[in-house]
Amino acid sequence: MKCDFRNTDQRLAFAERMLISDIDNTLLGNRSALDQLMRRLETHRGVAGFGVATGRYLESALDVLNEWSVPTPDVMITSVGTEIYYGSDFVSDEGWARHIDHRWEPEELRKLMDELPGLEPQPDTRQREFKLSYQLVDPKAAPKPAEIRHRLSGAGLRAKLIFSHQKYVDLLPIRACKGFALRYFAEKWGIPLAQVLVAGDSGNDVDMIRGSSLAIVVGNHHSELKTLKKLERIYFAEGYYARGILEGIDHYDFFGRCDVNMG
Ligand code: GLC
Ligand code: MG
Repeated sequence: MKCDFRNTDQRLAFAERMLISDIDNTLLGNRSALDQLMRRLETHRGVAGFGVATGRYLESALDVLNEWSVPTPDVMITSVGTEIYYGSDFVSDEGWARHIDHRWEPEELRKLMDELPGLEPQPDTRQREFKLSYQLVDPKAAPKPAEIRHRLSGAGLRAKLIFSHQKYVDLLPIRACKGFALRYFAEKWGIPLAQVLVAGDSGNDVDMIRGSSLAIVVGNHHSELKTLKKLERIYFAEGYYARGILEGIDHYDFFGRCDVNMG
């Protein structure tokens, strides 16, 4: 495989702008809009880097990006922000892994979660070193996310609980989530958050969208994102999927003035 990590490395070192998009139902979903977005990014490749932030694990993310012929991103934030990879060699950011390991007790968490009704672990491939994932199988019987958080803290356990699509429950280390991973990444590469544009559609994107970067919520967003409407610095696009991202790029004049007050 051609190793262009140096290119990525250089690109990130010189990047003045960074687009970081969720994959499912944000970047992917509309073929012609995606092609148009990729062409625009290519035109501005000298100044703008491109990354994804997804709930999927690395291989699964790569499969779907390949299916849609998306070029390899400069950075991939995967498994709901618990893993970060760079370039086409997918060099893992070990510093991030060390940072989020703080107070992470997966065995204890698993034991507690096993006792809860209405929830089942997701398939083994989706269980990661720093991500325990469950799904609601009986929403009526299952405790609400707030109740699960309460039980975790009652047992002296610290974990971040992310609820998505009204059915997925992810437990992550307290220092991890897409938003924290993004902030770590931006600081590491010296890219001001005000020049980072993020896009998403569902629950596990919330912390990334609420952060201090520029943000787009695509038109086809899940109802769990509605509460973000009253916040500044979040553009609710009308367009669906990559069409919404293109709309947000224009709204902020992302490749030009890159201004939160645009539009
Ligand atoms: C992705 C992951 C799944 C996670 C969900 C929500 O679908 O594969 O494990 O629960 O995102 O974050
Ligand atoms: Mg999504």
